[in-house]
Amino acid sequence: MKNMKKFCFLLNSLLLCAVMMFTGCGRAENETEKKSIRIGVSLYQGDDTFINNIRGELEKCAKAYEQENGVKVNLDIQDAKGSQNTQNDQVERFISLGCDVLCINPVDRTAASVMIDKAMAAEIPVVFFNRQPVEEDMDRWDQLYYIEAVAKESAVLQGGIVVDRYRENPESLDLNGDGVVSYVLLEGESSHQDALIRTEWSVKTLKDGGVPVEKITGGIANWERSQASALMEQWLEKYPGQIELILCNNDDMALGAIDAMERAGISGICAVGIDGTTPGLEAVANGKLLGTVSSDKERYAGAIFTIAACKAMEQEIPPEIELVEGKYYHCPQQIVVKNQ
Ligand code: GAL
Repeated sequence: MKNMKKFCFLLNSLLLCAVMMFTGCGRAENETEKKSIRIGVSLYQGDDTFINNIRGELEKCAKAYEQENGVKVNLDIQDAKGSQNTQNDQVERFISLGCDVLCINPVDRTAASVMIDKAMAAEIPVVFFNRQPVEEDMDRWDQLYYIEAVAKESAVLQGGIVVDRYRENPESLDLNGDGVVSYVLLEGESSHQDALIRTEWSVKTLKDGGVPVEKITGGIANWERSQASALMEQWLEKYPGQIELILCNNDDMALGAIDAMERAGISGICAVGIDGTTPGLEAVANGKLLGTVSSDKERYAGAIFTIAACKAMEQEIPPEIELVEGKYYHCPQQIVVKNQ
């Protein structure tokens, strides 16, 4: 009997630990716990593939949290459709609806101060993600957080995929055997902090890794598959037989370039992306994309959700969510190539 009691106690403690680990939140000082929380999420562009993947993971986090904690989560996800004015209105609406916390993927990262003003006045914490507000804005209040996959890291890993391939099999990149790998570059939005950094560090990594590269041309395709496809179509006509590598700031643009090659009946040119979106990973698996750099979407969305839920429940953010300077979370990333 005594042993049985001990066993039950141990089991209960283990269960409690598991629940704490799952919710990620420590118990509040005040014992009055909320039975429901309201989280307002605004996306810069709902049809962006990467953002869509994060959205799906956020929804999963909310469901799991409800089941584990018996706390109802009202997750109100809105699409700003590329308009900062729309996003500002969404923020106002979230505040008037009594949201406990806001998760914002800013349309214009330089215009976050208006949203911060509103949130600060209403004392509602904000978890920004993917498009980084400027530092002065992030420093305005200790209830502002930012979640990202660090751009330099993505780019160095992306460059590494090409360096490894060149070392293993130079002919698969230097297709005409002239001792130089001639590449084209597809870049994201010019105003996005990630685009410039990814381009710079990806190319630098190739050069430092001993790949003899030469840029043919490049262009901004704003992260979009169709825009990238149109650019690639032009380049294939303008530089016939010359393109040997396609460096892309994200997977969707790499897939657009591949679409253009398929239309033109061209194969054998390697493309690399970043994100590890669902279609990006599929393209790696079926050999269309040489490789991608995948950020861990579960942890990315998990960090956004855990911080938001802890703030809403007035609980401490758990130490597993390692915050740099108390507000920045850097999501882990990894290389994905075929047969790995
Ligand atoms: C990047 C991502 C792109 C796009 C963009 C939107 O980090 O790689 O695919 O989603 O964010 O801000």
